[in-house]
Amino acid sequence: MAARRGVGMRLPGSGDAGSSSSGVGGDSGGPRSPTNGAARSPGQQGGTPFSNFRKIVDPSGRLNFAQKAVLHADGVDFSSGASFKIKMDDFELFEELGKGNYGTVQKVLHRPTGVEMALKEIRLELDDSKLKTIVTELDILHRAVSPWIIEFYGAFFVESCVYLCMQFMNAGSLDFFAGCDVPELVLARITKSIVAGLKFLKDELRIMHRDVKPTNVLLNTAGQVRLCDFGVSGQLDRSLAKTNIGCQSYMAPERIKGESQGAVISYSAASDVWSLGLTVIETAVGHYPYPPETYSNVFAQLTAIVHGEAPTLPDSYSDAAHAFVESCLQKDAARRPTYQQLLDSEWLRDDDKREVDMAGWIATSLEYRKTHPKIQAPALA
Ligand SMILES: Nc1ncnc2c1ncn2[C@@H]1O[C@H](COP(=O)(O)OP(=O)(O)O)[C@@H](O)[C@H]1O
Ligand SMILES: [Mg+2]
Repeated sequence: MAARRGVGMRLPGSGDAGSSSSGVGGDSGGPRSPTNGAARSPGQQGGTPFSNFRKIVDPSGRLNFAQKAVLHADGVDFSSGASFKIKMDDFELFEELGKGNYGTVQKVLHRPTGVEMALKEIRLELDDSKLKTIVTELDILHRAVSPWIIEFYGAFFVESCVYLCMQFMNAGSLDFFAGCDVPELVLARITKSIVAGLKFLKDELRIMHRDVKPTNVLLNTAGQVRLCDFGVSGQLDRSLAKTNIGCQSYMAPERIKGESQGAVISYSAASDVWSLGLTVIETAVGHYPYPPETYSNVFAQLTAIVHGEAPTLPDSYSDAAHAFVESCLQKDAARRPTYQQLLDSEWLRDDDKREVDMAGWIATSLEYRKTHPKIQAPALA
């Protein structure tokens, strides 16, 4: 466990005080355990890559808690001026929150401050010289401060993995809620939050998301809806260990066509708008929106996206909601609305004026899921 007492921890390559915590490591020494993805309970010894934290965080290291606090060897300084005495081996590991194509996400707690984090491990296939590029590129995450975007605390490397420390969202991701009863105004609020997040990324950071899908929309019991996992690092994207590509595709038709033809850039923000449309429908219907026969075969699925009819919302939703998703799912990317147009659409324009009890809906849905567990779609062949 990282929390084992008396073991020095080091955050490789941490920068100077007050700057990014991103750093280059890779010199922690010793073999590291492979990620096997099995969920582990707190207190379980060995095996997990996270157990290597005792090797990678030491008294010279620090973790930058966004604008709130800087964790370092001797304590944690809050922007308010308050300072905590702290030991870097005070992290406690909790359960695995999920597993994606490129690694695992685990809940951790920094005990003295009580700050819970989600710690994401991404396996990479790259030589050490590329790590520095990735670190530099990840630095943009410190500027991604918005109510619609997951808070970023810092990133570091050990061997061929990058670790991202981010805000823990205690209700999990939107896919878990898809298929619960999702009232129209709740769906509109979720959609507005995603659009606002995408607009922030585009306007403020000049980036597109590139991976809009229900598992990258996170919720918490306070009722917040925030985006995560947007593409900030080209080098990171190029270095991902693509071990498992079988998954439901939220890619826009022009992106699928472009990638199949080897185009370098075949898409723009409009492609994220397509993925948004699919995400909204999945949330309402409870499963990936293309027909089940496409679930089991990558080729059939991509063909359905490029050539088939776009899916639609269930009839129970309003005409304004239908018009919204239809506009997102136009095959011709140039015809899809901009984020501002989406916010001004009939469906979303009054969202700000409405009282929507998101916290209440999330609590009810979490309760519902206890007796109606989420059934995962089978992996694609
Ligand atoms: N910050 C977070 N807080 C809570 N849960 C998270 C967080 N980040 C990711 N998760 C969970 O971990 C799972 C795996 O995430 P990830 O590795 O990004 O793969 P994917 O997004 O493809 O599912 C997600 O589906 C989500 O449920
Ligand atoms: Mg994700």
